Amino acid sequence: MMRLEGKTILLAGGGGIGGGLARRDAREGANVLLGDINLDAAASVVDEITAAGGRGLAVALDGTDERSMAKAVALACATYGGLDGLHANFASFVDQDQDTGVLELPLAAFDETLRVNLRGFYLCTRAALPAILDRGGGSIIYTSSPAASKGEPTRVAYAISKAGGQTLMRHVAARYGRRGVRANSVSPGSVLHERHEAELTPSMKEWLYSLALIKSRLGRPEDVAAMCALLMSDEGSYITGQVISVDGGVTMRL
Ligand SMILES: NC(=O)c1ccc[n+]([C@@H]2O[C@H](COP(=O)([O-])OP(=O)(O)OC[C@H]3O[C@@H](n4cnc5c(N)ncnc54)[C@H](O)[C@@H]3O)[C@@H](O)[C@H]2O)c1
Repeated sequence: MMRLEGKTILLAGGGGIGGGLARRDAREGANVLLGDINLDAAASVVDEITAAGGRGLAVALDGTDERSMAKAVALACATYGGLDGLHANFASFVDQDQDTGVLELPLAAFDETLRVNLRGFYLCTRAALPAILDRGGGSIIYTSSPAASKGEPTRVAYAISKAGGQTLMRHVAARYGRRGVRANSVSPGSVLHERHEAELTPSMKEWLYSLALIKSRLGRPEDVAAMCALLMSDEGSYITGQVISVDGGVTMRL
């Protein structure tokens, strides 16, 4: 399938899931800009893409910095003639490895989480929207998490940041829909990749597998990428304002 031929997509945040998004979008014909604070990691994914005949550029990007985002958008427009899609995917996980709640989490960790995960997504939107509007519309995806709605005893800042990202998404969908912009959040379940797998203790892994409904497996970056390619493509042209779970049915909601 080449549903993204002729489209230019800026992926803000590579890593495990972002690498999967970049590979899939490029395979479907997109011009991919993969931006990350870790340029070497983004560059190695883009090397793979170009070696396979795809089109991509790796950029040093700090999604929490307005100027850095503006530079990436300008590069997309100068290189490929415009911007059709933004996927805000990066995250800070600083409040995740501690058994802390609202009473214990250091305020510095709370502030940092919201600075990156929520303010960062807000800045990305401000930087990319004008170029997407210039193009006559496009698609914006925000990576969210079941933490936004599940109610968890830990990672309170992360959960708040992801809930805020969904609110931002609905605003963008509502305000810019008539100008051709679709916005959606994708909510992955537990997606295994190198970093995440390294962090899981055997008992955490066992617990996650016990929740799995789909052939006893956890998620893969490719699962999330398949949904996001649809949302970026014209096949997703009637989907906007939604939080779409790609979690093997672990969360089920109305
Ligand atoms: N892996 C999972 O199980 C899972 C589950 C639910 C949601 N998510 C969400 O998926 C997204 C991707 O997570 P992942 O698991 O692939 O993590 P990851 O750590 O592999 O990737 C995150 C990437 O973001 C980059 N990054 C961090 N701060 C940045 C910044 N300011 N600007 C640009 N890049 C920055 C990191 O360098 C890294 O490459 C996140 O939004 C995360 O909250 C992941």
